[in-house]
Amino acid sequence: MSEKKTFYITTPIYYPSANLHIGHALTTVMADTMSRFKRMKDYEVWFLTGSDEHGQKIERTAKSQGVEPKAYVDNIVEGFKRLWKRLDISNTDFIRTTDERHIKVVQNIFKKIYEKGDIYKSEYEGRYCTPCETFFTERQLNEEGSCPDCGRPVELIKEESYFFKMSKYQDRLLKYIEDTPDFIHPVTRRNEMINFIKQGLEDLCVSRTTFDWGIPVPIDEKHVIYVWFDALTNYISALGYGTENDELYQKFWPVDIHLVGKDIVRFHTIIWPTILMAADIPLPKKVYGHGWLLLESGKMSKSKGNVVDPNVLIDKYGVDPIRYFLLREIPAGSDGYYSEEALVNRYNTDLANDFGNLVSRTVAMVDKYFGGIIPEGNVPGQYDDELKALAAKVPEEAEGFIENMDFANALAAVWKLINRANKYIDETMPWALAKDEGQKGRLATVLYNLLEAIRISTTMLIPALPQTPAKVGEQIGFDFSNSRWNDAKTWGLIKPGNRVNKKDAIFPRIDPKTLEVNEMETEEKVPEKTFSMEPLKEEITIEDFAKVDLRVAEVIACERVENTDKLLKLELKLGEETRTIVSGVAKHYEPQELVGKKIIIVANLKPAKLRGIMSQGMLLAASNGDVLEVITVEKDLPAGSRVK
Ligand code: ME8
Ligand code: MG
Repeated sequence: MSEKKTFYITTPIYYPSANLHIGHALTTVMADTMSRFKRMKDYEVWFLTGSDEHGQKIERTAKSQGVEPKAYVDNIVEGFKRLWKRLDISNTDFIRTTDERHIKVVQNIFKKIYEKGDIYKSEYEGRYCTPCETFFTERQLNEEGSCPDCGRPVELIKEESYFFKMSKYQDRLLKYIEDTPDFIHPVTRRNEMINFIKQGLEDLCVSRTTFDWGIPVPIDEKHVIYVWFDALTNYISALGYGTENDELYQKFWPVDIHLVGKDIVRFHTIIWPTILMAADIPLPKKVYGHGWLLLESGKMSKSKGNVVDPNVLIDKYGVDPIRYFLLREIPAGSDGYYSEEALVNRYNTDLANDFGNLVSRTVAMVDKYFGGIIPEGNVPGQYDDELKALAAKVPEEAEGFIENMDFANALAAVWKLINRANKYIDETMPWALAKDEGQKGRLATVLYNLLEAIRISTTMLIPALPQTPAKVGEQIGFDFSNSRWNDAKTWGLIKPGNRVNKKDAIFPRIDPKTLEVNEMETEEKVPEKTFSMEPLKEEITIEDFAKVDLRVAEVIACERVENTDKLLKLELKLGEETRTIVSGVAKHYEPQELVGKKIIIVANLKPAKLRGIMSQGMLLAASNGDVLEVITVEKDLPAGSRVK
């Protein structure tokens, strides 16, 4: 018997400085979806999450509440575990940096690097951002002299410290990043990191003496190890690195994906790899930095106090709808917005209408026309081939997106099939077939095909929506509990003769009127910036508007315009014609993200030359501050369709 392929994925270990919010849930749900997908592809998966419990920030938070740090973190970490359980997170381990197994490994690695001569004692004088637990030089601070990452005030610290010779590994790291295109995703983050390293790496301060809540430096107990050195090591301490019991390390290291938010890519692609180099440990295969979940009032953050509690949302909407929203709404690698309104919209449109209704209608018809017994389908007819062809194509497409952590497009692909099936109902009109006894065989085939389209779609939803397949399965008389990904690529697994069971709607529609704001109460609430809308332009007539010829266009190719960081060149299909347009969206999209999208363009705009390229039109995009989204259409509208 051949060994199973292995797959190791991690989330950041979150700070228990407060309860988690849906931004953290986004990372963990993405990692969970990937893990479940890989299991369906027969990989042996190790999925690690945990908590980052040491450091000055936690010590201060605990003190401010009048509790010992350990008692404080114990309580918050219980909440982390409960939340992951509720969200159906299938992690195989949970590491706490206060675990004995972790502390031992961190001290060993520190000692190993010290003995090698890559850690030395000196004095640190510089700035420190406690919320970010990061050292900064004067030159790195922002214009106000505050933290360049979070904008909050920094503290001047001056103390005896141990330093790690990070500068020594600068060239090796740069070479590794340049030789390993897959190491940092997406490419924009990779370029940022390359630029950062090229500006020169300084040695890193890796110990502190002015507080106690940390792992003691093994050779000098008045120092505690810098919290990021401690935290990053979790990824191998959890595998038993360097202990007698290191089978997991042998089996799963190097990690396949460290999934992190874009805020901490730098720690994972600069500090962590150089520590590993110094300790002679192989480097991670991939660090994927996903975008932020934003509120209109800015980035959600524990210390800003503008956070949304996932528990409240789960109580109100259920687990799978929350997971669906997070995965569907945040484009791979870019930022996305949360609002309860957007959540309810997604729920009603995609889950209740498109998917839920497809299941209800199909099951109701099998019930009504065949007494609930799934009929055999052997009378092919018009539209069948198109439905089956799409069912054969979508699993390949979705799989490609999932491999790139692009769950938004993977789900959009599944919805293409779901909506094709809805259209198939309109085309074949089963209710009309039912009126003619001579069409019974055709009616049977239509319903069988619909059940198959539902089964295939549901199979592809297993990684993202762990609770939904059993509910669908109960209704369509199919057991998804042992489904493999490849079952989505096989037509005809539903057994005629099985029973369907008509039940309540899987996703009952939500009345948008029931919306209310769900922002969590926290201690340090600072006034929120509210979204201020740009003033409206002067009134126009319908004739004015009618002069603008808006069309759907399909992006068939896209590339960066050389020597600019703003412009993308898009090749578009518009009816029979192809066009080129140049657009200033390069800061917001990777070229390949746009390929295949159907966008809206102003088709009768006078052509203009940009950087020597003739641009024949303009695309529509919505933007606010730093956030920009190109407007796309999701239904199957041919390129060239008019937009009114
Ligand atoms: O940084 N949108 O922990 P942390 C998307 N302990 N993701 C978000 C988010 C948002 N608004 N807010 C948080 C730490 N995240 C360290 C990590 S790892 C060795 C140590 C997610 O509690 C995102 O994954 O501040 C981000 O990187 C992480 O939470 C930061 O969590
Ligand atoms: Mg943070």
